[in-house]
This record gives sequence, structure tokens and C-alpha cells, in this order.
Amino acid sequence: MKNKLSNIKKSLNLLNQNECIAIPTETVYGLGANAYSNIASKKIFNLKKRNKRNPLIVHYYNLKMVNNDCIINKNFIKLYKALSPGPVTFILKLKKRSRISKYVTNNKKNLGVRFPLHKLTRKLLKNLKYPLAAPSANISSKISPVCKSDVKEEFGKKIKYILDGGKCKIGLESTIIDLTGKPKILRLGGVDIDKINSILGIKISYSKFNTGKVPGRSKLHYSPGIPIRLNALHPKLDEAFILIKKRNKSSKKFFYLSKKNNLREAAKNLYATLRMIKRKNFKKIAVERIKNKGIGAAINDRLIRASKN
Ligand code: TXA
Ligand code: MG
Repeated sequence: MKNKLSNIKKSLNLLNQNECIAIPTETVYGLGANAYSNIASKKIFNLKKRNKRNPLIVHYYNLKMVNNDCIINKNFIKLYKALSPGPVTFILKLKKRSRISKYVTNNKKNLGVRFPLHKLTRKLLKNLKYPLAAPSANISSKISPVCKSDVKEEFGKKIKYILDGGKCKIGLESTIIDLTGKPKILRLGGVDIDKINSILGIKISYSKFNTGKVPGRSKLHYSPGIPIRLNALHPKLDEAFILIKKRNKSSKKFFYLSKKNNLREAAKNLYATLRMIKRKNFKKIAVERIKNKGIGAAINDRLIRASKN
């Protein structure tokens, strides 16, 4: 516990010096820095090799803090009450007097707002005088990190500090919902659309074709750097095989995402499995069909993008 406290102190000191550090969240690790500072925000883009036009989402401790920067609306309050803190990001309109750095938003008039659940990061947010801009802590277009060693693998010595919060419980990024007008899902993720629909009492549909507003969405993403073949029945000779359902036969090239055919567990293990297969030097990956429901739809979304090599 004492150790944890000194890690928090170290993180707070670095953030207050406008440094950029890796922070744990329940979805994936983030690269966090002061969202009110131009200097700090720019460091995120440089470290991640991220296109400057791709805006960052901002992490807050609670609704009261968001009120300084964004216009609050009814749908947001409903979803905030039901789902926060948790794995969802809300797009809201910025207030004129907001102090969010123009680098974070790419000069746009709206902002992605998230309330992460991880207790260490909540402790940071509670003790800071500013919110944290934090994209996933990976080099752009690569796989998001779900533990400390993944972050190390991405940045090596270039990162000043990684706050170790163990393995991420969800393992896929947050669901993104645009609340600036009629609610619209921009990214599938940790919270199922069905849940959002029942809270808002409406039916939002998701189409991967209506996400043009999210700059990072159209290109290759989440790539392990080797080809991925989806909906495979059997692996070919040179392929590692990712499975959900248990087979009688086992093999060194079989990688199970879940012990009990559980999609939440599969989501949690997905990125770590992709990294492991790459480390074992496989040159190709085949993935068996994954049910396109609930978090399964988010898993498929990531795999489809990762397969566009
Ligand atoms: O779970 C998560 O959301 C993680 C953790 C660290 O919180 N963060 C994360 O950030 O996944 P990032 O930057 O890797 O993905 C956020 C996506 C990007 O595709 C970005 O283009 C989009 O959100 N985005 C950010 N601000 C936006 C805005 N104002 N309007 C629409 N899309 C936005
Ligand atoms: Mg990302």
C-alpha cells in the first residue's frame, strides 16, 4: 500500500511538471497528460506518433469537473448516472470559456469525455487541478496495451513513467457515443449498445459506415503487424489459430480467448493474445467466427480493422 502511495505521488509530480505518463484504466492503458496545457498535450502526439488532426479524449473525476469545460445535456446526465465511472466516452459540446488545449481538440468545438473506473487513475484525477487527455498508450495504428509490459513494449525508454495498475479488466477500448445531437455510436466498446438504448429509452443503431466523424476510425488500426484471416474454420499450415470454443484436439498453434466460451473474458484476452502470437514469431493469424452480439460485436470490430493489412 505504501508503495502504491509513492507511485501515485510520483505520477502526480510528473503530471504537474507537464510530463506525459502511462496510466491504467479498466479498458486499456492510456498516455495521460494535462489537458489544459499545450506543452503537455503536444507530448502525447509526439510520443504516440499520432496525426495532429486526430483529437484526444479527456478523463475527468466527476460531472462537476466536466461542467467547467462542456455543455451538459439531458442524455448525458442519464448516461452519466447509470454508467459512470465506466468504459464509455461521451462527445459533448465545448463551452466557450473551456480551458482545454486546442491541441487536444484539434481546434474543434466538441470534446470526448470519459470517467475511468480504475481506482489508481481515479485517485490521480481526484488530486489534480486539471483533467487528463489520454489516448490509448500505443504507437498509432498498433494494438492497445492492457498491462505495464505492453506499454514498455510500445515505448521502451521513451516513456517517463508507467503507473502499474495490473491487467485491464475489460481489455477493449471504451464505447464512444456522440451526444452533441441525436445520439450516435461512434465506436463499439466496453458498454453494450443495448444497455445504452435501455437507459435512454431509444434505439440507436450502429453502422460502421456512419463513423466518419472519428478521424482514427477509417484507416488500419489495432494491427499486430501480421495478416489476420477472419471466420476461419481451420488454420492453414503457417497460421496461429485464435479460438473461442474448446476443441478436443489441442495444439501449440491454438490460442483460446476464453476457458468457457465467455465473450467478456475473450475481450479481456484479445490484445494480449495478439501480442503473444506475434512474439512467438507466427507470420499469420486465423480467427474462428465470433458471435456478433454484445461485446462480441466490439471484438469483431477490432479484428476487422486489424485484418486490413
Ligand atoms: O478506453 C478508451 O477510450 C481509452 C482509454 C485510455 O481511456 N482511450 C482511447 O483513446 O481509446 P484513443 O485516442 O486511442 O481513441 C479515441 C477515439 C479516437 O479514434 C479519436 O479519433 C476519437 O476517439 N475522438 C476523440 N475525440 C473525438 C471527438 N471530439 N469527436 C469524435 N471522435 C473523437
Ligand atoms: Mg487508440
